[in-house]
Amino acid sequence: MSLLQSSLLRVSQRAMRQMADRDTPFIEDEWYVVGFGAEIGRSLLKRMVLGRRLVLFRTAAGEPVALDDRCAHRSYPLSAGRLDGDTVVCGYHGMRFDKAGDCIEVPSQATCPKGIGVRKYPLVERGPFVWGWFGAESRADASRIPATPWLEGGQWASSQDYFHLPGNYVSLHENLLDLTHLTFVHAGTFGTPDYARAPYEVESSEGRYRITRSVSPTRLPPVWGKPTGLEHDHAARIAKSEFVAPGLHVVSVQFHDAALPPEGRPRFEIRTCHLPTPETHGSTHYFIVNSRDFALDDSGMTEFMRGQLMAAFREDVEALTRLEEILADGDPERYEMSIASDAPAVAMRRYLLKRATIREDAQVSMRP
Ligand code: FES
Ligand SMILES: [Fe+2]
Repeated sequence: MSLLQSSLLRVSQRAMRQMADRDTPFIEDEWYVVGFGAEIGRSLLKRMVLGRRLVLFRTAAGEPVALDDRCAHRSYPLSAGRLDGDTVVCGYHGMRFDKAGDCIEVPSQATCPKGIGVRKYPLVERGPFVWGWFGAESRADASRIPATPWLEGGQWASSQDYFHLPGNYVSLHENLLDLTHLTFVHAGTFGTPDYARAPYEVESSEGRYRITRSVSPTRLPPVWGKPTGLEHDHAARIAKSEFVAPGLHVVSVQFHDAALPPEGRPRFEIRTCHLPTPETHGSTHYFIVNSRDFALDDSGMTEFMRGQLMAAFREDVEALTRLEEILADGDPERYEMSIASDAPAVAMRRYLLKRATIREDAQVSMRP
């Protein structure tokens, strides 16, 4: 290795230490999606989030509940017990817990000792999502749930999906912030050869990182060309990718005919919510909601786009799974050389590291 290379190596390793990676502690003072509302019902659902084992259910009145999935008696998983009304009965020795997590019955004795219980986590159902808070309960402020108003007004047609991703959530955010990869990872689906070299603009502020890439004129891949009718070589594809919060990344893509004057030309937009919820340091619940603002009543188009998009997102899952194998091996000589297009991702990873390592009670004031 030359002198220049070894000094570059030291610089890159120093830069890496200033960025979050798979081993960075989770940011607990945030809202994360714990599930789609439709998944949580009148049976016990077991799910690990931020390294915590949860049991999820819905009360008879429809309120979603998340409790620690570990009985206060001998740690048996409550999810292996049963839901009885709005209470959970442990499947081992039968202790009963109410929806607040308080133990209200011990079958082997006449009275139930006070103060025994399991932790309950604040949940808020909004649109298709159930959001959970894992920091101190006193700081669970629902006004900080990332807003997705277009999913609630009926002006967009949407489909929902989920991947269990064997990779970490930091890498998923980084993947979404540099869409250069479309040309390579997605060469067979929605990437095009001109994508990687297309001009881009970066906008960053503390906690919000956005990159906008303009590919024009271009020939759209079928997943976009077919639904929009822009099946020629003078289409425009303007993609905006934005880190909104640790639990939400939004990618919006607008399409139009670049040969038409701006006034009055038809335009089409698709908007995809990517919602990474860390499961462990090496795995992520990857919730996806894809929406479009055209052909709202065309269910056939919803299914076509859903199939094409999921084929493409599966390519990301496969790529991030391969990446995780490398990142998880703990090689002390590993390095990352960042390039110009990494700027928003580097800023985002520095922000995540700062959020993960500053005092929790200082986190509220620094969030925008
Ligand atoms: S472990 Fe749950 S009641 Fe004993
Ligand atoms: Fe991708």
